[in-house]
Parts: sequence; structure tokens; C-alpha cells
Amino acid sequence: MPADNPTVTLKLSDFFAATERRGDVWAELSVLGRAWAAAVGRGQPVEAFASEAATLMSDLAPLEEFWAYPGIQLMNTLREHLARGDASAAARLASEINAALASGTYRHDPAAWEPSAQADISPSDFLPPSLASVEKHRPYFEVLSVTPIDAARWERGRQDMRKLRRTEDPFVYELVQVGSFEDTLLAVLFNGNLQAVVLQDGFAFRSRHDLSQVREFLKQAFRFDPDQLTVRDYGPALARLIHRIRPELDVYLLSERDIEGMAGRIDAGDIRRFFHGAEELMELHLAVLDGVGERYLTPYFDNLKKYAQRPIGTFHALPIARGKSVFKSNWIRDMGEFYGANLFLAESSATTGGLDSLLEPTGNIKVAQSAAARAFGGDHAFFVTNGTSTSNKIVHSALVRPGDIVLIDRDCHKSHHYGLVLAGGQPYYIDAYPLARYSMYGSVPIRPIKEALLKLKAEGKLDKARMLVLTNCTFDGHVANVKRTMEECLAIKPDLIFLWDEAWYGYARFTPFLRRRTALGAAALLHEQFQDPEYRKRYEQFKAQAGNLDPADPKLLDTRLLPDPDLARIRVYETDSVHKSMSSLRQGSIIVVKDQDFHDVEEAFHEAYFTHTSTSPNLQIIATLDVARRQMELEGYELVSRMIQQALRLRREINNHPLISKYFKVATPAEMIPSEYRSSGFDEYGSLNGTWAHWLRALDDDEFMLDPTRITLLCGNAGYDGSQFKALLAEEHDIQINKTSRNSVLVQININNTRSDLAHIIKALADMARAVEKRLAEGGADERAAFAERVRSLVEDVPDLPNFSRFHDAFRDDPKSATAEGHMRRAYYMAYDAANCEHVKLFGKDIDARLKSGPELVSANFVIPYPPGFPIMVPGQVISPEIIEFMRKLDVKEIHGYQASLGLKLLKPSALSKAGNKNVAR
Ligand SMILES: Cc1ncc(COP(=O)(O)O)c(C=O)c1O
Repeated sequence: MPADNPTVTLKLSDFFAATERRGDVWAELSVLGRAWAAAVGRGQPVEAFASEAATLMSDLAPLEEFWAYPGIQLMNTLREHLARGDASAAARLASEINAALASGTYRHDPAAWEPSAQADISPSDFLPPSLASVEKHRPYFEVLSVTPIDAARWERGRQDMRKLRRTEDPFVYELVQVGSFEDTLLAVLFNGNLQAVVLQDGFAFRSRHDLSQVREFLKQAFRFDPDQLTVRDYGPALARLIHRIRPELDVYLLSERDIEGMAGRIDAGDIRRFFHGAEELMELHLAVLDGVGERYLTPYFDNLKKYAQRPIGTFHALPIARGKSVFKSNWIRDMGEFYGANLFLAESSATTGGLDSLLEPTGNIKVAQSAAARAFGGDHAFFVTNGTSTSNKIVHSALVRPGDIVLIDRDCHKSHHYGLVLAGGQPYYIDAYPLARYSMYGSVPIRPIKEALLKLKAEGKLDKARMLVLTNCTFDGHVANVKRTMEECLAIKPDLIFLWDEAWYGYARFTPFLRRRTALGAAALLHEQFQDPEYRKRYEQFKAQAGNLDPADPKLLDTRLLPDPDLARIRVYETDSVHKSMSSLRQGSIIVVKDQDFHDVEEAFHEAYFTHTSTSPNLQIIATLDVARRQMELEGYELVSRMIQQALRLRREINNHPLISKYFKVATPAEMIPSEYRSSGFDEYGSLNGTWAHWLRALDDDEFMLDPTRITLLCGNAGYDGSQFKALLAEEHDIQINKTSRNSVLVQININNTRSDLAHIIKALADMARAVEKRLAEGGADERAAFAERVRSLVEDVPDLPNFSRFHDAFRDDPKSATAEGHMRRAYYMAYDAANCEHVKLFGKDIDARLKSGPELVSANFVIPYPPGFPIMVPGQVISPEIIEFMRKLDVKEIHGYQASLGLKLLKPSALSKAGNKNVAR
């Protein structure tokens, strides 16, 4: 049994670090045990060892309650060894447990659950199991049993469940037992390997632990108020709360009471099945396996594997299918050897014979897409095999009609801008707040979005405003307050559609902390809110004060607007590069839809899907989308918790390191998000201990928050610009990163990163810092002056980021209008006729003269420098002096849409006046 009076003191880092911390303590315990045993052998004093072991055990004991392994029996044995001072036996057992936990052998090796009879520790105890032995085994998971039974009888319950195992079971599981509502929540938070929870009616509410902090946390994180509950509500309320934390878990309820009545309760939707008492243990066992099996099922991938095994003769295109032309070739056999046979066996252009059609799914792709909708929280999901670039274009084509106004983040991915050209929508560009000192943009605040909607309302054009497009999170990790943004927009325009580009952010669904700040997490919260009578009351009060929202009323911009729950429609589209944050092959992307009015646009959506989807989609991408979903539904919570923990750790290590932090720094939330958007005052991740409540407040209230896993590493103080530093990391340290800015690089922590990866980058930074230090120490005064000048230029001499100027009048319906939308598509196609275009060199008298005295310079195309990667000019946009200044200061080589030898491509003034005349006629 756990030690007497164990306590859990909760720190924010504990949520993410529990597994890692456990591993560390077990490792420490096993090393300590061996040192102790050695001291006994040498006849040295051992008191210090005994007391340290007792401290480690008391750290571990409360945590261990939430995992099945090592479990009550082994913990008791270990405690007995320690109490007897049998250091050798304790060391052996701690080492065995440590090795089993680290390697995962306990998941399939029954011997790991018994204390070994072996007398000495052998080196093989610390070896991971061979890959072959791991592969043979069935997936292992843990089931949480919440029980009123006395803890002394828990072991028997566990043995009873074990007896139900059958050789034909597809999975194997162990039971973790807790006795209370509160402990259940802790187990669900800490143990990522849980897949199901069995609630036995009659369990207690209060934990045996001192949980004052946890209670506060639950209240704040999930709006959970235990005072509202009666004993009868415990089951449904607990199930609801479990799903708030981990929606994928299956929850079962066992009761001796009237389960027929309970099953029909209106609030029992979170319970998957009800069982009467313990009379149907086998049924429960089968239900648990079935529930996990449902998430495990990857219908497309499973069929593709079967297809690959069949002796199929192919008489269609795609000669590489089955691999015969590859493996029999004299010249390209290495291609087959490199990729392996399965890639070719699983290739086909067929859509029958067990394979489905992506364009018209009726079989396993349809089922796989439904499973993805379930996992990602939408009503519909669509697989896309050409990246989120295509997903975005599909959504634009489906929803935007020529002439519609689309409010859009100017800094968004270029697929949106091109999508609008194709769809003929008029972009109404809204600027994100600039972070000039890092040469990057933040995100788009709510205020200018409201301002745009109110201006449209004032001019009677609100009906043309079709959609708002925002990036969440941005490349650099700025996360919007998605719920509040939608709320305030719906208050002005109740049927506005939202397209949230979550290309980078798909994983956020799988942690309760970030989920609320995803498109679909926020949509679910809004849905709940609109049903809530309390909200209705709040809305009525708001309406009585604010009336019909007069767009001329300047106070509205500073008022938190509330939508009418009877009018507001939830119309949310999320695009997600599964390949960017989950286990799909490159280009695997999905569109997830939660649109109450989808029936109105469904046909158009399918047309748009046909427009952009290849008729030869890559089967492996489809299959890995299916598999990525399986993984996230079964281990996403654990993986994402680990990745957040690693990101917090890396931030802390770099910024607190005495040498590294002299030259490199991770930008904090305070540096990445202006204080007006952080009402909670949350300003750094570096010292999280004890500040979880603060972070939760930031998550709920702040207009923007910084995703901890996207780490902007500032390198200007080491004298490197972003591109140089990226190259250095790759060439000298084998470290690849993605994005750079003038004086930073972006380090992304993903579900694949390990602690060794963290050590790798920390070592590289320490080496580089040492090298700079040496250069400065040995290079003399000249070297130091040159270095200081280089740093100054990188850190201080940064160009201002230009805002969107305006569309030229020729592309505006009404040049006098106060709203900013323009017909970009007309400008775009005007440039297809070379006679309409001219070039002007970026440097020289001509351009200066035109900036001074006109005629205006109007861009003929998109100009997109990398970095920062957003269009600083779009077709039809008037080029301002600020844009030219920015272009001139840019020191990047890659600028799409601009050839230095020719200069800027412009629309000729004569062509513009012709277009302007037509516009007037129109
Ligand atoms: C915000 C955003 N949206 C969409 C995309 C395009 O995604 P994909 O690479 O999957 O086509 C990117 C690519 O970097 C992006 O940053």
C-alpha cells in the first residue's frame, strides 16, 4: 500500500513532467541502492543512503498510485527491503523496476511484475528488450477502476480482471485503482496510458491526498464546482469532466442501482455503457477491448495492408505498383531496396478491390474520415493529399463567391491569397501586430477585426462579408483567443464563417490546456455556451445596454460584444497539416468542419474538393492520415504532454544557463506578445513551478498566448543572422530547424523529440557560446569592435515592417468607401497581359520620383520575401514608401515574385485608368 499520509503538491510542470520525473526518481533510486549496497560491502556508514531512499520513496509513492506498474505488490516488497536495510535486494528490485519502466518490458513480460529471485544485479537488467520481442506483443494499456471497495481488496480485483484475459484478445491491459472522484481526475491527468475508466457506483468524492491546489486547479481549468454536486451526480459529472480533459477515453459505469434509469439520464451522454453490478465482468472486459478497438481501427490502412498481400495482376497505369519493374531492373533496383517491397505492393491506382476512392468515398475512406472527425472534434473531416496549401484553397473555393468580402490576416499563408484570387473574393486585409525587432508579425487582434465589420455594417455591406480567415497558431507560436474572437464577430455578423488555419497546431487538440484555444475546441465551448440559460441571461443584459450595435458608436470597440444565442450560427472550418505535427507522410492534411449550415454549402464544398484534388491521390498519404489519427486518439495526450514538458525544459535550460544565455535567448511570452494582449500578466515560461493558475488564467483570458512548443531562439547577440545560424546548426551540429528571421530561428518541439534531442541542441549552443567567447577573448580589440557592430546591426538596426497600404482605386467598387476590400483577382489577371505591365528598378531615380510625385506604383503580382514569408505586395496594391524602404533593407536572397535584374513588376498607369473607367461603368 502507499505510504501513510502521502501528499501530492501540484505544480504546473507536474502535469507535463510526471512521467519524466517518475523515470528520474526510479533511476536515482536504483543508482542509490547500488551505492548503498557497495557501502555495506565496504563496511561504510549507510544512514545517509537510507534517509535519501526514504525521501525518494515518499516522492514516488503518491504518484505511483496512478500507474499499474510497478503496482502495490512490488512497491510493498521494495518498502520491506528498505525497512530491513537490505540494500542489495532493494537495489536489485529498484533496478529491475527502473529497467522495466524505461524499456516498457512490463507491458508484455509477466516476469516483470514479480520480484526476481536472482541474487545479483546483472548488466542485462538494464538492456532494452530486443525489437523483435517488442513487436510480437499486443498493445498494452491501462484501465482506471474507480471503486468504493476498501483498498486492502484492490489487489484481488486486479487479479479477477486478469483472469478474464483470453488468447484471442487483441490487446492486454492492467487495472489501476483509485477510490475517489478527485483521485480519478489526477490519474486521468497523469497517466497517459489510460484508455478507459470504469466507475463503480458509490465511490468517494474526496481524495486521501492533500489536494487543495488540485481543487483550485479543477475549478479554474474546467469550471468544475464540487459544491453543485450531489452523490447521485458523481458518475455523470465525473464522466463529463474526464472528457473535458481527455475526450477520447471510454467511460463505463457499474452500479447496483437502477441502471436502466441512469442510462436514460439526460446528462449521461459521456458514459459509453452501463453494467449492473459486477455480474457481467466478461461483458465489461469485452466492452473495454471493443472501445479501444474502435479507436485502434484504421480502416483504410488495414485494407491497404491486406491489398498489398494479394497476388494482384495490374493492367492499369502506375507501373511501379507491385514493384516488378523496379526489383527486376538492372538499373533501378536500389530504389526498391531503399524503399522496401511494401511501398510498391501497396501502390495502386485502383479504387475498388478493398480500396476506396478519395474523390467519392463510400467505404473505408469514408469510415476513416468519420473517425478523424470524431478525433478532431468536427462533424465532418476530409483528407487532403496535397498539403494544407490545398486544404485552404478548397475551403476558399467552396465558401467564397465572386465579390464576397473576406476579412483576412494579411500575414497568412500564401495559399489563402491565391485561394482568394481563384474564388474571386475581395480580401479585406487586416494587419497583425508587428514585432519589428524580430522582423516578424504577431497575430491579428480582435479590435481591428471588429472595426472592419462595423465599418462594413455602417456602409450596408455586412451581407457581403462572408468569412474571417486567421492563422492559429502562427508559425512563431502566437495563439488567438479563438472563442472570444468568434463571439465578438458573431455579435456583429451572426452567420460569419470562420476559417482557422491550424496548419501547425493540430496536436493542440490532444491536451486540455491548448484545446480550448483551437478552432474546434472553441466551437464546442461556444455551442455549450449558447445552450446555457446563464449565458442567455447575460446576453439579455448585454442587449439591454448595447442595443442594436450602432456602428457609429466608438465604445463598441472597447466593449466585449456578446452574440445572440438564437441568431448566431457556428460555422467553423479548420485546416490542419497533419504532417506538420503528427505521424502522417508529408502533404497529409485534413479539413475539419463544424458548420451548422453545412447542408447549404455541401455541394459547393464537393465541387471545390474535386477542383483541387488530384485524381491520382497518393495512397500512402491517405493511409498515414488514418494512422496518425489512431495514434493521437490512443497516445496523443501522452505525446503532447511530453512535448510541452520538453519545450518548458528547453526554455528553462537555455535562459538560465550562465554561458549560453550570454549569447542566445529564448524569447518569452512578454517579448513575443505586447502587454495589452496579456491581461493576465503572464510573461514567461521559464520558471513555471507554482504558476499553473497563472497560465490557466492566461489561457482563458488573454487575447494572445504563446505556444510553449514553438521556441523563438534569438541568435543576434551571438553575431549570427537567422539564415547563417540555421546553416551553422545544420552543417556543424547536424541540427535542422525550420524558419528563420533576421535575428532568430524557430526551434519546434514535436511529438518525436526526445530528451537526447534536447541535450543535443543544448550542447551545440554551449559549444557555439564557448567559441564566441574564445574568439572575443583572443581576437583583440578590432575583433570585439566588429562583433559589437554586427550585433548592433542585427539586434537594433531592424527595418520597420510595412503595413498593408491599400488597393488602387481601379480595384475598388467605391474608392470613397471607408472599408479596405479590393478586387485582387482583376489586378492579378490584368498582369497576364504583358502590355499592361512595366518594371521599375528598386534602387534609382525613377522609383524615387514616382514615390514623390506619382503616378502611383501599383504591384502587378505577389511579392513574398522568405523570411518573413508574407506578401509585402499583392496584385493591385499601391506600393508605399515604407514598403520600398523595407524591400531595400531586406537582406534575404529568396523573394518570390521579384527579380532584382528586372525590378518591381507594376501595372501601368494607362492600364489602371482603363480598368478604373470600366470599374466606374460596372
Ligand atoms: C499557416 C500555414 N498554413 C498553411 C501552410 C501550408 O501547409 P502545407 O505545407 O501542408 O501545404 C503553411 C506552411 O508552412 C503554413 O505555415
